[in-house]
Amino acid sequence: MNKTIIVSNRLPLQVSIQNNSFNVVPSVGGLATGMKSVHAEGNGIWVGWSGIPENNLDPELSDQIQSKIRNEKCVSVPLTNEDIEEYYEGFSNRALWPLFHYFMEYTNFEQKEWEAYKRVNEKFAEVVIENLEDGDTVWVHDYQLLLLPQLIKNKKPNTTIGFFLHIPFPSYEIFRTFPWREEILTGMLGADLLGFHTYDYERHFLSSVKRIMRLEVQFNEISYHDRIIKVDSFPMGIDYDKFYNAALEHDNDSKEKSDLRKRLEEHTSDDKKLILSIDRMDYTKGIPNRIKAFEYFLDNYPEYKEKVRLVMLAVPSRSNVPQYQKLKRETDELVGRINGKFATVSWTPIWYFYRSMPFNNLIELYTCSDVALITPIRDGMNLVAKEYVATRTKGNGVLILSEMAGASKEMNEALLINPNSFEDFAVSLKHALTMPLEEQQTRIKFLQKRLKRYDVEKWADEFLKALEDTKNSKNENV
Ligand code: UDP
Ligand code: G6P
Repeated sequence: MNKTIIVSNRLPLQVSIQNNSFNVVPSVGGLATGMKSVHAEGNGIWVGWSGIPENNLDPELSDQIQSKIRNEKCVSVPLTNEDIEEYYEGFSNRALWPLFHYFMEYTNFEQKEWEAYKRVNEKFAEVVIENLEDGDTVWVHDYQLLLLPQLIKNKKPNTTIGFFLHIPFPSYEIFRTFPWREEILTGMLGADLLGFHTYDYERHFLSSVKRIMRLEVQFNEISYHDRIIKVDSFPMGIDYDKFYNAALEHDNDSKEKSDLRKRLEEHTSDDKKLILSIDRMDYTKGIPNRIKAFEYFLDNYPEYKEKVRLVMLAVPSRSNVPQYQKLKRETDELVGRINGKFATVSWTPIWYFYRSMPFNNLIELYTCSDVALITPIRDGMNLVAKEYVATRTKGNGVLILSEMAGASKEMNEALLINPNSFEDFAVSLKHALTMPLEEQQTRIKFLQKRLKRYDVEKWADEFLKALEDTKNSKNENV
């Protein structure tokens, strides 16, 4: 039976090592959480990095890790310390990530890191090809592996290859500044189908292909050598039922409540509201801006002092990259300053958690919060916004969402704001806190209907079906 090989930089499980034994936790981030349900259902395998350097590992420990990874239908690509530093922390997260998110001032282009990026993409190609059988489909994910489609196509020209980008594709004016722009596009064009979260990202990509590669583009098809490459947008969904049902269970839960839930519930009543934000600690997520805007809100609407609390979960991410370390310091300082400025004996305005939380606690955060404040400066999609809506089993709750998140394109019933405007923030927060229940329910109902219909399974099915169609059209042309 033919299989689908999913390939991404990070596997859905994260290995860590302590005292010559290992521990495994689920990976964080939209790619991993979204694709996990797709992978669990199918007969395919997932190729990626385990999260640790695999050189210098004790052989016995290494065997145990490999066997655990294989049991999860995964195959690991062994990366060395040098690979992680130059390809992952370096090229992927100091060149591509900031550029694609329009943070040009954060980009760092190093020839040595570009060489590492090429080298590691080749390592991934080798592992994929070792596991590839005739008739298999390969589905490559995200910016860490932009060269992989072409590397596989060169060696296995008959393989059907799909590529999906989980982050924005920037406008031509930004992309053209990239020193290896042609190589990157050539790498991506090894795929038979290229998918993006939104039509804008798709349009930006096509414009770069036309202007940099000078290729013929008709509607959403690119003629390249003797191939036709399809490009389309597929907004990624969530496992809606998983979140909705977990929230339902939480509503009915007569078991003993967790400490977190007890503390959250202590702060919710008719006149006390919880405002929630959940993100990886990433400068694209607009965390300092959100904290400053919350300060602006409390300064301008002092009647909300002691009545609202911002519960902020920031999940550690890429903490070896200097920009992320700086962001962590800035966030700690801001939270400290604002808590110091407003706190009373019975109230702290911001509850700040710097850690990841297990699924059950995430559901508690979602279900106990009256407002979700999701305000990235730039974000490919943002699944947290969708997860919050899915957990509103009673239809109450308000989502405030940045216009700069891909998710805003499908979530018009949220309160959409420009994350750079404190005034927009404050007015929307006031609107959310005073919104009549009926209006909340109407908005949530529309959003839920859409999220349920276009869930992650549907998203993957549509992508894979469109990929299969490229096979059929290839056969027709023969
Ligand atoms: N998440 C998680 N553990 C946490 C906090 C968040 O697994 O402690 C998940 C969250 O449920 C969501 C994902 O991480 O599915 C974040 O995805 P999103 O698209 O919002 O942002 P990304 O991290 O991909 O930029
Ligand atoms: C985003 C990216 C993913 C990445 C995730 C977590 O969702 O699109 O490719 O896996 O962030 O980041 P990390 O660097 O820890 O894998």
